[in-house]
Amino acid sequence: MLLAGAGSVAALATGCGDDGQETAPEPETAPELGSPPPEPPASAPASPGQTLAKTSEIPVGGGTIFEEQKVVVTQPEAGQFKAFSAVCTHQACLVSRVADGTINCPCHASRFSITDGSVAGGPARRPLPEEEITVSGDVISLA
Ligand code: FES
Repeated sequence: MLLAGAGSVAALATGCGDDGQETAPEPETAPELGSPPPEPPASAPASPGQTLAKTSEIPVGGGTIFEEQKVVVTQPEAGQFKAFSAVCTHQACLVSRVADGTINCPCHASRFSITDGSVAGGPARRPLPEEEITVSGDVISLA
């Protein structure tokens, strides 16, 4: 009984395909699913030629931190501008304040000289790396 039943099902199935109208299946045209283009980084890294500030925005004997560019620009003496990485050499926190002649890290209280980036206190052992800047007229830019 079972065999006969299976046979008739097979006959029916074969009969369906016997109409002579078989065509090749359409090739699937799936859209390209490549990875999307890379997104720009959330915070743009410092790029050469980028204007940072006007000289008047940097206090004499102090400095200004540019978080987006991760740069701190100081003016140890009137007309003398310096720039350092704003990334603490201890554990890579961003420095947060410039006061009393030092660039200060909020994480573990390391302090760096505004004149040469050297360690003035705290757990950091290496100075802040100097960054190249150009001062053209009253505009300070990354070199
Ligand atoms: S990360 Fe700056 S003092 Fe530790």
